[in-house]
Formats: sequence, C-alpha cells, structure tokens
Amino acid sequence: MTNITDLRAFLRSRRSIRRFKPDPVPDSTIQEILHTATFAPSAHNRQPWRFVALTDSPFKAKLTDAMEAEFKRDLENDNLPPAEIQKRIMRSRERISGAPLVIVLCVDMTDMDKYPDTRRKKAEYIMATQSAAHAGMQLLLAAHAEGLGGVWVCGPMFAQEAVQSALELPKVWEPQAMLLIGYPAETPPPRGRKKIEEVALFK
Ligand SMILES: Cc1cc2nc3c(=O)[nH]c(=O)nc-3n(C[C@H](O)[C@H](O)[C@H](O)COP(=O)(O)O)c2cc1C
Repeated sequence: MTNITDLRAFLRSRRSIRRFKPDPVPDSTIQEILHTATFAPSAHNRQPWRFVALTDSPFKAKLTDAMEAEFKRDLENDNLPPAEIQKRIMRSRERISGAPLVIVLCVDMTDMDKYPDTRRKKAEYIMATQSAAHAGMQLLLAAHAEGLGGVWVCGPMFAQEAVQSALELPKVWEPQAMLLIGYPAETPPPRGRKKIEEVALFK
C-alpha cells in the first residue's frame, strides 16, 4: 500500500499533458484505466458515464473532421480573421491526431431518475454530468498512475451532434468531453493554484 505522503504527491503531480510520444497505449492498459474510471462515485450509483476509446481507427479521423467543421463555423461567426481560424483549426487537428488514445466521454440519461418538472429534471441532468466528470477525472488519474499523460478537452461540448453522428453513437450517448492520452512528450510546470483561503470557507 502506498503511504499517504506518496499518495498526496501523486495526486498533486498530475498535469495536463498535450504533447505525446507516438508510442501506442497497450489495449490492456486502456482496459485498466477504463476499469478504474468506473470506480468513480455517481448519483444513485447509476453510472451514467459512457466511453468511446479511439486509437488508430478511422473513427478518429471522422471525429477530427466533424469537430473541425463545427469549430470553423463558430470561429467564422466570431468574425476571426481567416488566418487565425486556420491556425486554431490546425492546432486542434494536430492535438487530436498526435494523441495515441482519444477517449470521448459521454453521458447517458437512460438510467437516471425521471421528473415531470424542469427544476428537478435539470438537477438530475447536472448530477449525471457531474458523475461523468468524476469518471473522467478518475480516468486521468488512472492514466497518470500508468505513466501516461492526458488532457481534458471540452471541444465535443460545442459539437455534440456532430461528434455523435461521426462516431455513430447511440442517440442517448451525449458527448461531454474528450480525453487525449498518451506517453508524455513534455513536462509542463505546475499551473498556479488559488490559495485555500480564496476557495474555502471554514465555519
Ligand atoms: C472542464 C474542463 C475543460 C477543459 N478544456 C480544455 C481544452 O479544451 N483544451 C485544453 O487544452 N485544456 C483543457 N482543460 C485543461 C485545463 O486547461 C487544465 O486542467 C488547467 O489549465 C490546469 O492545468 P493542470 O491540469 O495541468 O493542472 C480543461 C479542463 C477541464 C476541467
């Protein structure tokens, strides 16, 4: 059993990694990190998280194309200069294609409670997405434990239908994020953190 000091250091040493070595992530490791992710807490233990793991499948390219089209449209609507649009699109494309493993994190409301009123419906939906986010975080830590690096990317939130259709997902699988994962090719310094006094009240 890891001692508490090592565990604290481990939890605090996770970084968002955005540049990866080309080495593939072994299938057995993908299974392990997905399995660990499913030990996250979830509202009513309904486990509304769903994962789509993409390695070198043609679906990875389809995902990139679908997200790119949506991203381009949004940037054009923002009236960004074409050169800037092109730059941002290329960066996004390179990021995804440079990740040996892409995991699209989805939420599925099927097993969640049903309510007739908007207030409780909204709360239940938020609880489902919170649960999925816990699984995403646990997955990033599980990847870190395997010597992998990863980053949470919110792009699919802005292109939910496009991602769903590009990956031919069940209609009830709603994309929430994608996790880019691989063996780290960078060691970024820790990003600043707000002081505990700024983010916590002790009463
Ligand atoms: C909900 C959420 C959305 C994020 N979206 C992106 C993203 O689209 N692109 C990206 O490069 N990083 C994204 N990140 C990673 C954050 O930028 C990163 O966690 C933050 O800067 C702190 O750095 P650290 O993870 O290395 O501690 C996201 C993180 C979260 C939790």
